[in-house]
Amino acid sequence: MTEPEKKLSEHQRSKVNLLETSPFTAEGETIIKLKINGQEKTLAIEPRVTLLDALRETLGLTGSKKGCDHGQCGACTVLIDGQRVYSCLTLAIMQEDKEITTIEGLATGDNLHPVQTAFLENDGFQCGYCTSGQICAAVALLDEVKNGCVSYVTSDLNNPPTLSSLSESEIKERMSGNLCRCGAYNGIVAAVQQTIGQTPAEIEGRAENQ
Ligand code: FES
Ligand code: FES
Repeated sequence: MTEPEKKLSEHQRSKVNLLETSPFTAEGETIIKLKINGQEKTLAIEPRVTLLDALRETLGLTGSKKGCDHGQCGACTVLIDGQRVYSCLTLAIMQEDKEITTIEGLATGDNLHPVQTAFLENDGFQCGYCTSGQICAAVALLDEVKNGCVSYVTSDLNNPPTLSSLSESEIKERMSGNLCRCGAYNGIVAAVQQTIGQTPAEIEGRAENQ
């Protein structure tokens, strides 16, 4: 059981456990199975429940944050089948048979995902409220670039950037769906640069001044 799950109230936990063996639901609820961070979870929810609310309120996975709750801030970003999705804008019931990865599922045991490490080492956050969404978005960004996806600022659509050639403006554009009220943007860009093997501008400048 993960740490966040331990924090589930007794009531929520007994409800989730009960559903593993019982088909009964409250009026209006339906039973669904979600595969989250490699584990299958059974939950009874109303069909109108968003994935974000199912994660936070039903499963106790509170790493994904609710900022705007209508697709404008990116705090709720999770990965579904490897693609970044605002979990406040999709219904949980639509995600059966998909692989859902939240911030809680990125590390391997005590080993942080390289993007998580880079955020720590580059001050990619202040209050941390947007950070789980930022990190999930950055993880997806890596795969998007590897798969040859272009962005709004890609100058040659027939020649998409690679991880090693990804410019700062490309990183900013590709991370623009995630807002940071603290303005930790320089650290966020630097974290992405470190993850892809580039030297963040600030570190480069520091080295030149020595
Ligand atoms: S909470 Fe989902 S985009 Fe803001
Ligand atoms: S670190 Fe505070 S909102 Fe981004």
